[in-house]
Amino acid sequence: MKKLEQLHSGKAKTVFRTDDPGKLIMEFRDSLSAFDGKKLSSASNKGYLNARISVKLFELLEQKGIPTHYDSMLTDIDMVVDNVEIILIEVIVRNIAAGSIVKKYPFETGQQLDPPVIVFDYKSDEYGDPMINDDIALALGLATKDELSRIRELALAINSVLVEYLGERNLLLPDFKLEFGRFNGGIILADEISCDTCRFWDKITGESLDKDVFRFDRGDPVAAYREVAKRVVPEIFG
Ligand code: TMP
Ligand code: ASP
Repeated sequence: MKKLEQLHSGKAKTVFRTDDPGKLIMEFRDSLSAFDGKKLSSASNKGYLNARISVKLFELLEQKGIPTHYDSMLTDIDMVVDNVEIILIEVIVRNIAAGSIVKKYPFETGQQLDPPVIVFDYKSDEYGDPMINDDIALALGLATKDELSRIRELALAINSVLVEYLGERNLLLPDFKLEFGRFNGGIILADEISCDTCRFWDKITGESLDKDVFRFDRGDPVAAYREVAKRVVPEIFG
């Protein structure tokens, strides 16, 4: 497979066309961005670690019957994925209160959310990713009613698989963000599942092992990402 011209460059990944019209390449870069690009940096190996964590979790989800866009790795940081039509909804699943939900509502950080809370944001840099509900998603034509209920069903199924798998590796999953795409008449999981898009807390100490380390200057983000990789993909450490 050949990596052809760049189609889109986001905050942490760049998407390329390939010689197969059904496939794209998602390159995981070392750049770090938070607070709508107001805080920027870069960290060596961060792209590689996020790519390997994502692959492992996509493979796990596929094994559990959840369709994903993952195909293969072309290099350590170039992921071959299905050329889906991305649905412009960021699906946030929350198991434990942290981050923006604590700022916006009277939740305490660390408070268990049972059942999990699913929130939809409109994926739009121009509008600052505002929270939306089903009616706004329908009125904007972002997805159909059936697609929204399928997305909810998949998000909850993904959450159950991830909470169990990570729990066995001494990681809590307070929250994470998913994106979905249309492919072959169905909805499949797209984007990434990594330390950039999840909160991971050590089960014993509660220490953040994710992008919060970068957001709030809590130490070396790569050390945190490596700690997650050691638990999720120990095989890459030989
Ligand atoms: P939040 O607490 O800032 O709303 O974030 C909730 C979760 O979603 C957290 O795990 C980080 C992830 N997230 C993204 O991946 N991209 C985003 O643009 C936002 C706002 C959150
Ligand atoms: N990913 C979002 C941004 O870069 C939110 C965050 O990670 O803080 O603005």
